[in-house]
Parts: sequence; C-alpha cells; structure tokens
Amino acid sequence: MPDISPPITHQAKSPTWIALLGIALVAGTIALAFAWVAGWLTPERLTPQRFVNAIQAGNGEVFPGFRRAHAKGVCIAGYFEGNGEGVALSRARLFAPVRTPFVGRMSVGGGSPYGLDNKARVRSMALELNTDDGQQWRMAMNSFPFFGVSSVQAFYEQTRANTPDPATGKPDPAKQAAFADAHPEFKRFAAWAKDAPWSTSWASTPYNGVNTFRFINQAGQARNVRWSMQPQTAFEVMTPEQREAADANFLSEDLRARLAQGPLRWNMLVTLAQAGDAILDASQAWPESRAHITVGSVVVESTSPQTTGACRDINFDPLVLPTGVESSGDPVLAARSAVYSVSFNRRERDIASGKAGAAIGQAPAKADAK
Ligand code: HEM
Repeated sequence: MPDISPPITHQAKSPTWIALLGIALVAGTIALAFAWVAGWLTPERLTPQRFVNAIQAGNGEVFPGFRRAHAKGVCIAGYFEGNGEGVALSRARLFAPVRTPFVGRMSVGGGSPYGLDNKARVRSMALELNTDDGQQWRMAMNSFPFFGVSSVQAFYEQTRANTPDPATGKPDPAKQAAFADAHPEFKRFAAWAKDAPWSTSWASTPYNGVNTFRFINQAGQARNVRWSMQPQTAFEVMTPEQREAADANFLSEDLRARLAQGPLRWNMLVTLAQAGDAILDASQAWPESRAHITVGSVVVESTSPQTTGACRDINFDPLVLPTGVESSGDPVLAARSAVYSVSFNRRERDIASGKAGAAIGQAPAKADAK
C-alpha cells in the first residue's frame, strides 16, 4: 500500500527566546506603569501618598486609627428633609419632599484627635446621605466661606510651610512668609481666620461646601452651584476670654447637652453661579448678591464617639455623588477624593492591625506612617 500519510514538514520552530522577550516586555511595561503611578520615577510629582505624608509631617506625629486631617470629632446621625424647592435644580432624590437618613461627623481642623477645641479655628460637618432610590451623596463642609488657596499644589505648599521645624518644634516663619508672598489669595483667608467671630457651638456654626458642583435637573439643564448649611440655632459670639476658659472638649460636650434637649437644624442653601463667577477656584467667593435657594434642612438627632460610632469607617469623599450632581471639574475635588482615600486606608490599616488609639484622653500608640 502506498504511504498516504501527510508529508512531515519542518515547521519553523517558534524560538523560545522571542516568547520570553514578549513576556518580559509585557511584565516590564506593567512594572513601569505601577512605578509611575506610585510616583517612584518622578520624585517631584505630587501624589496622594506624598500629600498625606506632608499632612502627617505637618501634624508633628501620626495618630493611629484617626483621620490624618480633621482628626478630632464625633459621629452624628439624623435626617435631611427636602422641601421640594431643589427639584427644579437637580434630579437628586435628596431634594424631593422626603426624609433621607444620614450618618455624619462633626469635627475640627487639625491632625490631632487630642487637640484643644478652643484652638481650632476651622469646624466641620460631613454627611453620608442614603436616599430611598439606593443612591448615596457624601459631603464634607467647613466653617470657612472660601478655600485658602487656588490650587492643589498651593495647598501642598501651605501644608509644607506650616510643618514644624525639628529644631524649634514650630513652623519656620520665613517659610510661612515666603508661602504667603507666593500666594496672594491666601491674604483673604488669613483675614477671615483672624477676624471672623467664633461661635460658642458646633450647633450655631455655618458649614460651606466651598467647591463648585454642577446640578442637573430632569430636563437635563446644568447649573454651577455652591451650597452651605446655615444653622437655625442663633449665632452666639464666643469672646476671647470665654475661649481661653473653655474646656478642651467643649464642642462635643455642648453638642451632647443640646441634643438631650432635642434635634438641631441647619437650612441647606444652594447658591447659583452667574457668568464670570469662579468655578474652578474655591478661593474666590461669589458675590453676596447671587440667588440663594433653601432646598431643605439637615436635622441632627444624636451623637456618638468617633472611635465606636458609625462614622468611624466612612470616607467622606466629596465625589461620591448621586445622579443629578456632578463635579464642576475643580481639580481640588479630584485631589480631595484621592487624598482622603489614602488617609482612609492608612487609618483602617491601623485599626485592623490593632494599633488604633482608643479615645480622647488616652495616650496614642505608634501608627504606620505610610
Ligand atoms: C486639596 C485640598 C484638600 C486636601 C488635600 C484635604 C485633605 C483632607 C484629609 C487628608 C482629610 C482626612 C480624610 C479621612 O481620613 O477620611 C480631610 C478631611 C476633611 N476635609 Fe479636607 N482636604 C482638602 C480640602 C478641603 C476642602 C476645600 C474642604 C471644605 C469644603 C475640606 C473639608 C474636609 C472635612 C469636613 C473633612 C473631615 C471629614 C470627616 O469628618 O471625615 N477639605 N481633608
């Protein structure tokens, strides 16, 4: 029988070294991409990790298990009640005339959970609101009416200029002066910090979203807005003498005492931008003449310690937004989102590894600096 099996052809052997080179190229590209993202190839580039390192250095030490900024605070809980006026501005469910529960946090600026309330110029409110359409809106607002500087890089430089000099334990006045000279917009903030009256309570303090966001309504119309929470509790000025005499934790003590008498309320005021208003620069306030629309109220019903309360494990990332609310594109918002995430991860790692400091008044343990 004739041999009908197919002739054996000599296939070109695929050289192993080409395959290996391909694998090495892919692996190398991935490694380079990781190294670039981590900032190892560009030591001068500002990364979220470097920003948090700078904040930690500015704090003088790391307080395990606590936020790397706004470290001192308490959890709060309550609800937002929409009055329906916001429906024309945004399709976010929050603005319907319904109650939306929230978990939140009242805090003071600064990196120490053991700081003194009467030295904290900046006070804050943060909310995580869960609407009945399954969406979530997180906000983090401050008592200052505008941001200190006009860019992320400038805030980084400010953080570095305020870092204590190891020789003196205090910031170097020359570095602070150089920073102020390079950032003239900071003068407005310095004037606010020096002259704006202090109130006697978290309850009577206004909280401002500061950055610009975009609201989109059912018809698809978009508007640039800022918002603030204006207290229904009357503003009571705290004199310098009262401040000097105040207890280190007077804010949380006052909040507990007030809530024992009943809920506390703030009106949410939405301010609409007009042509020419600064959208991407939160250091520039909009004129007072802009239209303000009251869209509902924040009602705080209870408070609990931040080390055991529900706010402990929340990252109040200002870019967790519902349908109907978007970032304006302000780069500070994107930077906040990235930096808060690093701060959150570090404190959660402290907690998971059993290093978290326990509570106000207890000696801090050693934390992970990275
Ligand atoms: C580039 C600018 C900013 C940086 C790098 C920055 C950094 C931080 C960091 C690291 C935290 C701690 C986050 C955590 O561990 O959960 C924090 C908290 C906070 N920030 Fe900022 N921040 C910036 C701008 C702002 C602005 C403009 C506001 C005000 C509207 C603001 C309001 C707050 C508030 C209220 C908290 C406390 C939130 C909470 O209770 O968890 N921040 N910030």
